[in-house]
Amino acid sequence: MTATWLSGTKIAKEIRESLRPEIERLTKAGVQPGLAVVLVGDDPASQVYVNKKAKTCLELGMHSEVYRLPAETEEAELLGLIDRLNRDDRIHGILVQLPLPKHIKEKNVIDAIHPSKDVDGFHPVNVGNLAIGDDCLLPCTPAGVIEMLKRGGIEIAGKHAVVVGRSNIVGKPVALLLLREHATVTITHSRTPDLASITRQADILVVAAGKPELIDRTYVKPGAVVVDVGIHRREDGTLCGDVKADDVAETAGVLTPVPGGVGPMTIVMLMKNTVEAAGRALA
Ligand code: GUN
Repeated sequence: MTATWLSGTKIAKEIRESLRPEIERLTKAGVQPGLAVVLVGDDPASQVYVNKKAKTCLELGMHSEVYRLPAETEEAELLGLIDRLNRDDRIHGILVQLPLPKHIKEKNVIDAIHPSKDVDGFHPVNVGNLAIGDDCLLPCTPAGVIEMLKRGGIEIAGKHAVVVGRSNIVGKPVALLLLREHATVTITHSRTPDLASITRQADILVVAAGKPELIDRTYVKPGAVVVDVGIHRREDGTLCGDVKADDVAETAGVLTPVPGGVGPMTIVMLMKNTVEAAGRALA
């Protein structure tokens, strides 16, 4: 069996274009959707992500502000900036790029962002509403994974979805979203014994383990849908995911590529969240 590739680049482009009319409508009504992205320190990967987010905003005719703060920035100063952005009517979404330098408590920063501007969906109010199944801003990568499956014509209801990874950014929220779509969900992680015996039961396998090429074909049921959330740079400079793609492609039915899979979906879902937040500000 050779897997079909499910391209995030293509689906993200469709969604991006579908946002334009709403951005135009809101802008004409005096509420141009605005996103503020805050980067503390000079982590090279974070810089790439932040630049991509700002560029996509501008391409869509949204308002974009990027704050690049030195690594030594005090937590209080960062909280002061968030407070100002919370009060700024031109800003509908605030994203503080993670990870933060060690002297800054991530929780204090996430808690400081007003839930209505929390386009990352990381604030406890949004996480709580997600768990309950209420309306909320959804975390971008998990929302991107679900959107990709749906637009790729993959049925989720009634399927056994196995998630590898239990992070607050991906593993836990993607499991909640799969559950909301009526999948039977198993969450696995680094302490799960005999991981492959569980992943092999998955109709849909979502891998967010943060370990390069952890998943080879021995972890995958023939014909399964495999979503690779990981992205890593190999020593030779090339990129890979958490899935050994060439090997898994021999057994999976559908597989998302790295790069060009979940990554572009994350960015477009951030734009969608910002447009949604702006829409609520107008309503
Ligand atoms: N770092 C890695 N992924 C993310 C994300 O989705 N949001 C933020 N703010 N930082 C990240």
